[in-house]
Amino acid sequence: MTTKSRLSICTTCTSSSAKGATDPRHGRELFDKMVESCAKQDMPFDIRAVECLTNCKSGCSVALSGPGKWGYVYGNLDTGMIDDLCELGRRYAGTNDGIVPWRERPESLRRNVIARIPPLD
Ligand code: FES
Repeated sequence: MTTKSRLSICTTCTSSSAKGATDPRHGRELFDKMVESCAKQDMPFDIRAVECLTNCKSGCSVALSGPGKWGYVYGNLDTGMIDDLCELGRRYAGTNDGIVPWRERPESLRRNVIARIPPLD
């Protein structure tokens, strides 16, 4: 089992701000750009592609999770938020409990939390 935090990105999402689905999907574009961006930096979290986080109407969707940490689902994301998503992942990875205080979250992501999920003990 990994001890690293993880950013799971839904690759089948359509952006909530788009008029319709694209091929590749907006979520796939977000995943590809995150992987490209993270390859240039030493990220303290893993990135994984997933299909559907059941937040389809508010895509693009991602989830942050980690051992012993609260999990968070974020929605209404787009590729313009890559740098902020990297920063949020970095801050999340730096916590013991997964809680990044609201004021310490990148401003563009403060209103994008869809759900938080309690950690396993
Ligand atoms: S397709 Fe991305 S949350 Fe359902």
